[in-house]
Amino acid sequence: MHKINIAIDGPAGSGKSTVAKEVAAKLSYLYIDTGAMYRSLTFRALQAQVSEQDEQSLIELLKEMEITLEQQSDGEVQVLVNGERLGEEIRSQIVTAKVSEVSAHRKIREEMVARQQQLAKQKGVVLDGRDIGTYVLPGAELKIYMDASVEERAKRRHLENMEKQRPSDITTTKEALKRRDRLDRERPIAPLQQAGDAVLVDTTNQTIEEVVARICRIAREKE
Ligand code: C5P
Repeated sequence: MHKINIAIDGPAGSGKSTVAKEVAAKLSYLYIDTGAMYRSLTFRALQAQVSEQDEQSLIELLKEMEITLEQQSDGEVQVLVNGERLGEEIRSQIVTAKVSEVSAHRKIREEMVARQQQLAKQKGVVLDGRDIGTYVLPGAELKIYMDASVEERAKRRHLENMEKQRPSDITTTKEALKRRDRLDRERPIAPLQQAGDAVLVDTTNQTIEEVVARICRIAREKE
């Protein structure tokens, strides 16, 4: 048995992070939330009043950021920037609204992809994001593309917001989701798309448990 790398891509709300976390726990792999890395930079840019359009200032900011993803015993991921813990603030509406613009810049993506590839070198990692199977780990042994209808994804995100006591309403959530998906799919550099060799998993009518079990089964066959 040898450890493999698992790439999970898909649009917002498709269930990627929940599934990736559980798959990693079941296989004793490391979970790497690449979205949290782009969110951390966006949060820092907002703090430093750097515009999401200002690629040069953003890359300078990123070069000064050591981003560490710490896995907690409950499987959750704690993000640290230069040793300082970031929590819910990276999931705020304002960060979510700006993150796709920040992550569309070439220099930002090159730096993030290099860092993510470094983290994946050890093998036995599950990465989730938008460009993992296509750009970050084109050689990953297992690639999954997760999708679900936009109605279902908006419903899930809205419920998650309510559970975490974030302000939310279903119509705004759906519109914000559609906008972010459009930006992520249409950007010129590393747009969100299914890798040719990725397994498509439509989660609209499937439970998390079913999806996790299916991915673990395929992963074990490849180990
Ligand atoms: O997965 P999450 O919703 O936290 O990702 C936030 C944003 O970060 C995405 O909408 C996308 O713009 C960007 N992202 C990316 N590439 C990744 C992961 C996230 O461009 N690998």
